[in-house]
Amino acid sequence: MEKLSDYEALITAARQSRDNAHAAYSNFRVGAALRATSGRIFGGCNVENATYGLTVCAERVALFKAISEGERGFDGMAIVTDSDTLTPPCGACRQLLWEFCGDIPVVLANLKGRTELCRMSELFPKPFDGSNF
Ligand code: THU
Repeated sequence: MEKLSDYEALITAARQSRDNAHAAYSNFRVGAALRATSGRIFGGCNVENATYGLTVCAERVALFKAISEGERGFDGMAIVTDSDTLTPPCGACRQLLWEFCGDIPVVLANLKGRTELCRMSELFPKPFDGSNF
């Protein structure tokens, strides 16, 4: 899992999930896909709410779907938006992704085919987690 071509299925799943985004307030549609070590891929989209604060990001929807299905090991995530500047996970999602997935590769992609491969340890370099207490 070193080359971007290894992530095509994950990017496609994230694109498909993005189509289901409920982004009635920001109009910013996000799709994510998380691959479990079992091989299963879990998609997620952002789900917004009239109170704004109850909005859930695409990454957390994908993660919680996987956790709720019993998955505990993960080896990659893709995040797709329609922005020229690729979209990394927000701070809250970084915390959760770190705790459940560790230093997984994360592919950022847009609809024009621009991609960037990074790792959680780059996105979240000084984490607080269970090893701190
Ligand atoms: N959003 C995500 O779903 N993931 C991100 O990585 C960044 C932000 C959503 C939350 C909200 O619905 C919209 O994008 C604008 O912030």
